[in-house]
Amino acid sequence: MAKTDGGDDEASTVADTKRASVLAGQQPHTIADVKETYREQATTMARMDWLNRAFSGRYRRALFGDATGRVLDVACGVGTNAQYLGHDAEYVGIDISGAVLTAARQRLDDTPRETTLYEMDAQELDFPDDSFDTVISSLSTCTFPDPVAALSEMGRVCAPDGRILLLEHGRSSVGPIAWLQDWRADAHFEKHNCRWNQEPLAVVAASPLRISESSSAFLGMITAIEACPG
Ligand SMILES: C[S@@+](CC[C@H](N)C(=O)[O-])C[C@H]1O[C@@H](n2cnc3c(N)ncnc32)[C@H](O)[C@@H]1O
Repeated sequence: MAKTDGGDDEASTVADTKRASVLAGQQPHTIADVKETYREQATTMARMDWLNRAFSGRYRRALFGDATGRVLDVACGVGTNAQYLGHDAEYVGIDISGAVLTAARQRLDDTPRETTLYEMDAQELDFPDDSFDTVISSLSTCTFPDPVAALSEMGRVCAPDGRILLLEHGRSSVGPIAWLQDWRADAHFEKHNCRWNQEPLAVVAASPLRISESSSAFLGMITAIEACPG
């Protein structure tokens, strides 16, 4: 639920239209589908985390390196982002998958940073309004059944002067690669519950968050976004 109800029927119709256009043509999926997929993939995610860091570590460091205060990592996976935060940040991670969180706990046991993990749905965060200084999330909006709801929740729990930092993957800006992604989109979704040809900026633009900065890398497939709560 949004922090402010923000207005009239016309505004909510516009929001509904944007949300519908973001998900248009995508196969619907449920929280139960996501849980099942990640129950199966938790061990692989933990085992292959080194590869994840090798590929995306520099982008995570650049975006999350100055995240400060109480930091919420939404859909934290095996806790990969914890090591990239500023040294005095307190790390709170949530994920829908108990199996993934078990792997995260084992991984984060060794870190000196204060960390807390919760099993929770990003689309219905069980935290009060304004309870985090920074909200971060990576490679996640592609898997949320309702990414706009999850982004709205990130805005709700972020302090009004806080920051929301997103590292997302999506459709390449290079024609042949984008074509390949479109061609394999259904098969990829079937296996991973991941919309790998999503347009991350359009997804965030359909939410109440206000984008203050963005950049892309890796043939346009990686997008870093800094936003403010709406
Ligand atoms: C591709 S992984 C990314 C993990 C991690 N953020 C990273 O950057 O490596 C997607 C994660 O989103 C989680 N997830 C998907 N839907 C969710 C939801 N509604 N609420 C919380 N976590 C969710 C999955 O369980 C999985 O751990």
